[in-house]
Amino acid sequence: RSLKPSGELRLVKPKDWTSGFYPGVLWFMYDLSRDTTWKAYATAFTLLLEDEKNNARDHDIGFKMMSSYGHAYRLTGNKHYREVLIQSAKTLTTRYNNKVGCIRSWDHHKDKWQFPVIIDNMMNLELLFFAWKETNDSLFYNVANEHAQTTLKNHFRKDYSSYHVVSYDTISGDVMEKNTHQGFAHESSWARGQAWALYGYTMMYRETKNTVYLDQAENIADYIINTAQFPDDYIPYWDYHAPNITDEPKDASSAAIMASAFYELSSFSMNNGELYIRTADRIMTSLSSEKYLCKQGSNKGFLLAHSTGSKPKNSEVDVPLVYADYYFLEALKRKGNLLENN
Ligand code: GLY
Repeated sequence: RSLKPSGELRLVKPKDWTSGFYPGVLWFMYDLSRDTTWKAYATAFTLLLEDEKNNARDHDIGFKMMSSYGHAYRLTGNKHYREVLIQSAKTLTTRYNNKVGCIRSWDHHKDKWQFPVIIDNMMNLELLFFAWKETNDSLFYNVANEHAQTTLKNHFRKDYSSYHVVSYDTISGDVMEKNTHQGFAHESSWARGQAWALYGYTMMYRETKNTVYLDQAENIADYIINTAQFPDDYIPYWDYHAPNITDEPKDASSAAIMASAFYELSSFSMNNGELYIRTADRIMTSLSSEKYLCKQGSNKGFLLAHSTGSKPKNSEVDVPLVYADYYFLEALKRKGNLLENN
């Protein structure tokens, strides 16, 4: 997942939300190089996660299974991977609450939140669309669509920046709290949260072709580019409203997620495609520079330095994070696809 302050690898169990990203990195290496050595490693690390298909303890099953089994199925067509993904999607739907119209994100912090939904949860919906397309069962589509609609209504401020945590009353379905967990303040814009929102609504448009989602993605893009504004190197600080901007840790993971999302959004946008490609290119140029790209043989093989997991908890500050590497490789792949198609 990351490096410890001692420089040792920080490994995680399959239940961790990041467990799918290392297999995902290996699948991208195979995908981009066609070297079957990567495929062998990717397969081995993917199969370690199979039991997670029944883990309903949080919403992260989408992150875990799409980044591992999703690529395994895409790149091999092996039906076993498909079955695991469909079971995982079924597990995810058990966390959906009809009254709220959302999938519950976490079961922890029950003292603080009755039914917490975090903006990150948008990413898990991709698993439901996979299952819908494979089975034709509209339950998967409807849960994903309702979750995205409810989130669109309640998670965004007027300027299209996103709250991190929205908690709901399960009896009335009403919003109770709008908070942060990993950001600087309840009313600030946690950088990775904005990136999840951009990626999530871009994906919603890809899967539904509902232009409400495209408009939302473009409004979020406008917020990030014009209102929040990038630092000179286009790699955000960990929160757009962190108190000591220019002297705060960066979050390369949010930059990598955005680059990948901007490349995809560029292919859907009627008017802003070039702007989104230019923005993603600038992010990728920075991430590929000496400052962010780890030297070969350093940092235990991570690709990118300077990400931030949770600054408020002083956890994983200014370190490599496996999901930064994962979305960086996905962005490279998407850039390659754009070049091929033009
Ligand atoms: N989904 C957890 C995070 O972005 O830190």
